[in-house]
Amino acid sequence: MAYNDFRMDNHWLPFTPNRGFKDDPRVFVAADGMHFTTHDGRQVIDGISSLWCVGAGHNRKPINEAIKKQLDTLDYGTAFNVTNDKAFRAAEMIAAMAPGDLNKVLFCNSGSEAADTSMKVALAYHRARGEGHRNVFIGRERGYHGVGFGGMSVGGIPANRKAFGTALLPRVDHMRFIHDPVNHAYIHNAEPVWQEDILTELENRILPLHDPSNVAAVIVEPVAGSAGWYLPPQGYLKRLREICDKHGILLIFDEVITGFGRMGTNFAADFYGVVPDMLNFAKCVTNGVIPLGGVICRDHIYETMMGAHSKAPEHAIEFFHGYTYSGHPVACAAAIATLELFQQENLFARAGEMGKVLGDAMHSALKDLPNVIGIRSLGLAAVVELAPVPGLPGKRAFDVFMDCYHKGVLVRSAGDNLVFAPPYIVEKSHIETMVSVLAEAVKARA
Ligand SMILES: Cc1ncc(COP(=O)(O)O)c(C=O)c1O
Repeated sequence: MAYNDFRMDNHWLPFTPNRGFKDDPRVFVAADGMHFTTHDGRQVIDGISSLWCVGAGHNRKPINEAIKKQLDTLDYGTAFNVTNDKAFRAAEMIAAMAPGDLNKVLFCNSGSEAADTSMKVALAYHRARGEGHRNVFIGRERGYHGVGFGGMSVGGIPANRKAFGTALLPRVDHMRFIHDPVNHAYIHNAEPVWQEDILTELENRILPLHDPSNVAAVIVEPVAGSAGWYLPPQGYLKRLREICDKHGILLIFDEVITGFGRMGTNFAADFYGVVPDMLNFAKCVTNGVIPLGGVICRDHIYETMMGAHSKAPEHAIEFFHGYTYSGHPVACAAAIATLELFQQENLFARAGEMGKVLGDAMHSALKDLPNVIGIRSLGLAAVVELAPVPGLPGKRAFDVFMDCYHKGVLVRSAGDNLVFAPPYIVEKSHIETMVSVLAEAVKARA
């Protein structure tokens, strides 16, 4: 396929520098296993699972077949007042994989919708308990919860918020970030152990400021993915759970990236041994093939919402929320096939094993290169952090991303971080290629 097979005048690309794109377009026309084929006929390794989605690799026949079969059986049916069989089955499988009594699944279509859904559940739940005054949300600096107004408000990546000031939710605060560039710049398949308890700030400053009795929920990514794979200090999430419990505050884990195998476990909640009140998912649940997201709620949330309506007439709706495509049968069929495939091929355990290979390769190839100021690896993800070009934050990493792309490797630039998060089917030989191409590009941009 040549450039002139498609025009580039009408598609406004998301989270992409559009102005220079046409001069050097990066367009995929096919994918299989670990590789893309580009419009100009080259092969590119998918070093980022297409933004943390394609855990099982591309073009997986069982998923494709399940989708085709579903299209020929029940293509679509509305989700309100009626439903479909695949939504029940997908929810059952997801609940069975989730820890503790995370048992009730509200479906949506993306991670952004999951963030907003979980925040609305939190408000409705507290109201149902007679504590409707609990309406403060607490996120974290450099957190990412998508681009809806709720998720953006609790999110903490400055560029994502800058242009939207007055539209951000008013009753939101942010905990400090979880990175220590002095003592923990380099983390190699381990949890950083901090001397300082950084949640003291939450207990002693943020909660008293708002009064804990007004706080609806704390929402965090267990590992800060979009910002650049920043890892929580050892014990952090357990202590966060304790603080929330102490004050009746709901804890929401945004596992859109960490869910379904990235940490070598079903969820990061399993990896860290902490059960949140709600767990948001998307991406890998369908191997990225079809949009599907959701929020898994603990039993007490569902029961409270139902109990509050025990005296209401049977036809009364308990939660005024949902999407036209909540539990779409084709998306749910894709999810069922994906989750079966993950299990059949034991891919989460494989992700854990290959994560060590990736971490070893990144640390040994990149540690002593110019401008490298940190390397972090845990689960099947690893990142190198570069010193920014003075006055041009993000430029060095973007240039490295472009160089890698031209050499056949897709890496993700996030600020001045370069992130690898390959599909769980990745082989050692792919990792060697990915890391050596990245190392060459880092040297070239010194
Ligand atoms: C933790 C987290 N939450 C939410 C989102 C938003 O998901 P989506 O782009 O599907 O709306 C992302 C996307 O990367 C994410 O990483």
